[in-house]
Amino acid sequence: MKPLLFAFTPDAGICRSIAASLELEPCEFELRTFPDGETYVRLLEPCNDRDAIIICPLQQPNDKLLPLLLLVETLRDLGIHKVGLVTPYLPYMRQDIRFKPGEGVTSRYFSSILNAHFDWLVTVDPHLHRYSTLDEIYTIPNRVVDAAPVAAKWMAAHIENPLLIGPDEESSQWIQKAAANADVPYEVLLKQRSGDYQVDVSELKNDWQGMTPVLLDDIISTGKTMQQTIVSLKRAGLREPVCIGIHGLFADNAYQELIDAGARAVVTTNCIEHLSNKIDVGAEVAAQIRILMDN
Ligand code: R5P
Repeated sequence: MKPLLFAFTPDAGICRSIAASLELEPCEFELRTFPDGETYVRLLEPCNDRDAIIICPLQQPNDKLLPLLLLVETLRDLGIHKVGLVTPYLPYMRQDIRFKPGEGVTSRYFSSILNAHFDWLVTVDPHLHRYSTLDEIYTIPNRVVDAAPVAAKWMAAHIENPLLIGPDEESSQWIQKAAANADVPYEVLLKQRSGDYQVDVSELKNDWQGMTPVLLDDIISTGKTMQQTIVSLKRAGLREPVCIGIHGLFADNAYQELIDAGARAVVTTNCIEHLSNKIDVGAEVAAQIRILMDN
């Protein structure tokens, strides 16, 4: 029997794309908030003796987590076999160390919640900096989609004479893969972050006149990392860049601020639904789901 699909945002591009690539049976459910703020959950179809996939994009996770957990527990209570979670953006990955005494290492606590409730997990490019793989904190079977080759393909098809620029050391994992895939040169800069909105990015070391800079990073949140990188590019006399983010979180007014700062275009994958979505990673997510379902 086909696995059941519970999609929190069924009309989002990535959900449609995943559903189109897999044999799933979409399932209706009701989630609403009582006047006192508590969550009501009801399945509108039987689910016993079936496997299920929940697609729940977990950006802005705090308000989504409890309804998600109440849904998965309802499924288990009503006789579901296995439940996998697909969250194209995996939150709470950046607090991967105690930067200051007394801080919580929330990436670990968040992973322990998901480990306790789900049978498997699929996500796209989690922010792996001090963890070398997701397995260091996720004990359930998991698969990670690598968006860099898809971004490289988009870049090769849409940008003439591209030069990949990584704003910081962490970005070099995506930059190197994308550069190898598209066979283009690259430079990775250095970043110093002193606060949520305070970022410094180093100057370019090489002369790249005549090329089109393409900034690539896993996350655009406040957009300050990309904005400061644009400042460095301007100082080097380069053209206006195209900014590619795998996960466009766009806190506050970050999208417009990037355009105002001089981005020629801001492009994201459809991991997080946004008007900048140009790169569809749904087929790649579906391929990883298939591997876990087959196992
Ligand atoms: C962290 O190093 C990430 O790779 C991104 O560079 C960072 O999250 C971007 O954040 P923001 O847009 O707030 O500068």
